[in-house]
Amino acid sequence: MMHNLSSEQSSSLVDRYRLSFHFMPAANWMNDPNGLIYFKGYYHLFYQHHPFSPYWGAMHWGHAISKDGVYWSHLPIALYPDESYDCDGCFSGCAVDNQGKLTLIYTGNINGEDNIQSQCAAQSEDGIHFEKYKQNPVIGFNPDGDLYNFRDPKVWMQDGLWHLIVGSSKEGRGRILLFRSEDLCSWHYSGVMAESDGDEGDMWECPDLFQIGDHHVLILSPMNMPGHRNIWKRGRFHTATGQFLTEEWGDLDYGHDFYAAQSFQDDQGRRIVIGWMDSWTGDKPTQQHGWSGAFTIPRVIELAPDGKPLFKPLPELQQLRQAGRRDEAGLIAEQMSVTADLTWTEECFEVHMQWVWTNSSLPTGLFHVRLVSDADCQEEICMTFALDRKTMHVVVAMDILHAEIGDHKTSICKCAIGPEWSFDLQLFVDRSSIELFLQGGEAVITNRIYPLGRYNRMLLQSVDGEVDMVHWDWWKLKDIWI
Ligand code: FRU
Repeated sequence: MMHNLSSEQSSSLVDRYRLSFHFMPAANWMNDPNGLIYFKGYYHLFYQHHPFSPYWGAMHWGHAISKDGVYWSHLPIALYPDESYDCDGCFSGCAVDNQGKLTLIYTGNINGEDNIQSQCAAQSEDGIHFEKYKQNPVIGFNPDGDLYNFRDPKVWMQDGLWHLIVGSSKEGRGRILLFRSEDLCSWHYSGVMAESDGDEGDMWECPDLFQIGDHHVLILSPMNMPGHRNIWKRGRFHTATGQFLTEEWGDLDYGHDFYAAQSFQDDQGRRIVIGWMDSWTGDKPTQQHGWSGAFTIPRVIELAPDGKPLFKPLPELQQLRQAGRRDEAGLIAEQMSVTADLTWTEECFEVHMQWVWTNSSLPTGLFHVRLVSDADCQEEICMTFALDRKTMHVVVAMDILHAEIGDHKTSICKCAIGPEWSFDLQLFVDRSSIELFLQGGEAVITNRIYPLGRYNRMLLQSVDGEVDMVHWDWWKLKDIWI
């Protein structure tokens, strides 16, 4: 079928929340990242897209490419819901390089009484236009029985066979099913790869499995697990049994606006993850401006010596830095504060801070980093760092305060304190988002924010204990939409 709708055809009304250095649709709705791949010299991303309104609807796959993972160009829509097996949506999935052909594997969705989700494929000769397989759906039914909860395939090549994992649900437990194939068309069911222990959600969306060093990491987006969670599990995938055994698990991000993350490996061997920077439940003030949804900045995943994943901003983003500045805060005594005003008028910036808590005899420490806006309503993002020397941990909270637009949000996480009671953070503020990377990526907090003014003043306040600010660097960040 011929289509000529382009995702950049109707551009969104200009509004103050359009992001400066995050990927977002030219207009209308987007959710999950799909088909992330480094292919023939380009980073490709696809995304769940409704090109007719800023609300979720029959899903298409939007498409964009980048040379460096920083600057993106929109391409024509890659998949349309135009076949009997995907007429109500081309749901999430992945991309693989099948002997030089960019190939997408996705879920076809049919609504109504005959609600069925099946797995389908499409391939491209030029990396832009896709033709769906004649054999679709390549996996017609869920062997688990739940015909509706059978979605979001992720495929990789291992030992000469294509492996496909897909989200499913049985008796109120999320699970992942494994299939194998020689040709991406004919698939054999290999059993249940992993299952919820009963407290980890009733449907596991967007599964993703990869190897780093000697470890395997599984990523999932569990539905109806308390909190807004996208979790990782580190463990071992046993090829012979097809099962994944978990050794440890945690959250990819502790904010409210991070879901459906997908990873891929680039030409440098780096494992990069991108999440949908929004959520199913939150208020979406940009919808009245004709668009909704964005991606987080790309994050490189590394494993710490203790085996925990670390999430670090893609280093190439440093090319966006301009107008850098270094503040000398020095010692901030107990009950004292230091203020810095941003000298530029832009609201998009990056901040690095590293401090140590001095007077080590104290059992605790309490430090605030407050970003204050120039609007009259005293909008503020308050980040609190509470050190407990007994447990050697810092509890970090991010509170969005006095915001007249958007939800009130509080996000909390815990990090180990560094050597000599040191702590570091890296903060990315865009026109409607904030991403806080803590302790070299041990934890990340991502939230959408909708300020009336600009967050352009920073207050450092030591409430309990003395803080020595070792580094305090700022950069204004360039726009990627030129
Ligand atoms: C996750 C999800 C997927 C599904 C897609 C539909 O956010 O619910 O499970 O494929 O979104 O847009």
